[in-house]
Amino acid sequence: MKRNVVVAWMGALLLLTGCGEPSHPRVLDQFDVQPHIDYCAAQAARTLASLEEPTLIPNSIDADTCTWRMASVGSWTCGFWPGQLWYLYEATGQESWREAAKRVTDLIVPVGYRRARNHDVGFILSTSVGNGYRLTGEPAYRDAMLAGADSLVQLVNPAAGTMLSWPNMVKRMGWSHNTIIDNMMNLELLFWAAAEGANEPLYQQAFRHAEVTMQYHFRPDGSAYHVAVYDAESGAFEKGVTHQGWQDETMWARGQGWAVYGFTLAYRFTQDERFLQTAMRAADCYLKRLPADWVPYWDFDAAEQLSEPQPRDASAAAITASALLELAGYVAEEADAERYFTAAVRTLQALSSADYQSRESKSSFLLHSTGHMPRGWEIDASISYADYYYLEALVRLQRLQRNEPVLGK
Ligand code: GLY
Repeated sequence: MKRNVVVAWMGALLLLTGCGEPSHPRVLDQFDVQPHIDYCAAQAARTLASLEEPTLIPNSIDADTCTWRMASVGSWTCGFWPGQLWYLYEATGQESWREAAKRVTDLIVPVGYRRARNHDVGFILSTSVGNGYRLTGEPAYRDAMLAGADSLVQLVNPAAGTMLSWPNMVKRMGWSHNTIIDNMMNLELLFWAAAEGANEPLYQQAFRHAEVTMQYHFRPDGSAYHVAVYDAESGAFEKGVTHQGWQDETMWARGQGWAVYGFTLAYRFTQDERFLQTAMRAADCYLKRLPADWVPYWDFDAAEQLSEPQPRDASAAAITASALLELAGYVAEEADAERYFTAAVRTLQALSSADYQSRESKSSFLLHSTGHMPRGWEIDASISYADYYYLEALVRLQRLQRNEPVLGK
């Protein structure tokens, strides 16, 4: 098993540097994580203080305002704010963060017991209730996660072997069975539930979803389609299209981030080498085409082909940085581990600069994310999932600096 190769790799470098001096790879010495975790805590405290009710769920701040739009319980983004609060509790040990996290997480628990309206139940529960369970062992959180996994798996189409991501697009778009690359993220809930002793089919369904996605969702260069459309009856793959990217054949930045993260977590739970290779191909394609400052435009091809300047997507950078920290720990070659690890740190450095941190201007952590460009929503905005994955990546990096497992306890 190659888990935590990064820790071993850092240890090996320590030996190579000689003299018995405790030493980390140079890239780590160039980035001090703690001030940025402190920054996130200060910004989140500002957000909390600004809420009319402590149970409100901040979602996004448009480019031209300083005011949070709120998420409703059940929307796909509602877990990211409580997830940030759990990470702050983990990073600081302060009881006030635990109380704040619990207050919102308890509102989200019922989502686990509802019929899944779409694949997002995984995003919703893993970030909020899942982190809460990881850090507190609260049995009600475990039960809600297990119930949510049972509900999510109902979306599987046995003919296709994948989950129906968007039931509402079946009629609207004529996509009789559709699976989006983002859906890979929700396998975490199924694999987790299977590891917790839930029924065996849950693991098999998640595994099959990843296998089919691996087969049909990628172009030869390793870039991912946003949406794969299958025939609901036969399960046959029909076409790859987009919903949030620029065009069907272009590389939507956040989708590519979900691909890297999703296949990395699929490898974490299965140790299937093919999933590792898929994560690496997706990562390599992303890194090859990344702008020099490490933060992608919302769609790689739109930025290259359109004459007007295109907005960035800091959320894609944060998601990918967090994934690369984990991926670096699984790869066999030291050169690959170093490449992914360095890219993750460089990305975090870029996001932690005055160009991307909101600082005094807004109480979010980051600026410059793009939610849904084709619909004109949340363009160049602050968005809760960008903040969540940024903080997650900082916490992961801090664990590695302390020679702890990248995923925590
Ligand atoms: N999962 C929805 C999005 O990435 O926008």
